[in-house]
Amino acid sequence: MKITFLLTRRVPDVPSPVLVEVARHLRAAGHEVDGWIPEDRLLPAHEVQVEADMYVLKSHTEHALSYAAALHDAGAHVVNDYGACLLAQDKVTAARLMRELGVPTPDTWVAQRPEQAADLVGEGPLIIKPHRGHRGAGVHLVQDRSELAALPAMDGPLIVQRHVPGPGEDLKVYVAGETVWAVRKTFDAMSFTRPGRPVPVTPEVYEAAQRVRHGFGLELFGVDVIESPDGPMVVDVNYFPGYKGCPEPAPVIAETLLAAARVVAA
Ligand SMILES: Nc1ncnc2c1ncn2[C@@H]1O[C@H](COP(=O)(O)OP(=O)(O)O)[C@@H](O)[C@H]1O
Ligand SMILES: [Mg+2]
Repeated sequence: MKITFLLTRRVPDVPSPVLVEVARHLRAAGHEVDGWIPEDRLLPAHEVQVEADMYVLKSHTEHALSYAAALHDAGAHVVNDYGACLLAQDKVTAARLMRELGVPTPDTWVAQRPEQAADLVGEGPLIIKPHRGHRGAGVHLVQDRSELAALPAMDGPLIVQRHVPGPGEDLKVYVAGETVWAVRKTFDAMSFTRPGRPVPVTPEVYEAAQRVRHGFGLELFGVDVIESPDGPMVVDVNYFPGYKGCPEPAPVIAETLLAAARVVAA
């Protein structure tokens, strides 16, 4: 089977060691594996060529998502499922679905301009963030109306979310099929480049992760959890994350992809 990874330019620009090892496992199982960055090619949109038996979407750019959509429409097998990636990428659809699934998540609104949240912030602190945000860009904590008024100009749609009080560190939860890992790390603009400290996965976190897995239809994903006094609260769902800090994720990721390949072959 030919398996093609749709990749993104990394910072720094070196291949992900986890992906290199995943590819090694897939090749050892007899598959042909390649990968390229959609932004690096001029791709025909009027006639999309499905050249691989399975595509693995490992990029979160608008460009890669559009191309994955076109591949999906042309009958390609995209992993994670393209529709599931869209659900996760858009924080409006993700918030609604998590509530339906019974995954603990804060109250969430969508707004075009920050000042629309004036009454809400009167009732308690809010997080304001872009609806298709990534890596924490444009995430603001506002405590009151004056902080809301002082926000820099932001383009909507915006996610307005109840701020969840936590220990000052995120619990980054990573999932590959039935396997769930968790690491703790402080969140900042560059935290995606750092591994966290592995910590045990509690039954509550495992349950939330598996509800997201089945409800969204994702097999390789992560959730960002705030460990609040009221229990874990999921504030973000990400398809195919980096698994930084997880012990030996590559064989499990590869096995998850091999299981998807067996479904495609069948
Ligand atoms: N509702 C919230 N309450 C508390 N902290 C939050 C909330 N939403 C986001 N954060 C913090 O901001 C970080 C980035 O927000 P997130 O929703 O994960 O956006 P991104 O898609 O950019 O990763 C989170 O990892 C978390 O530390
Ligand atoms: Mg996040």
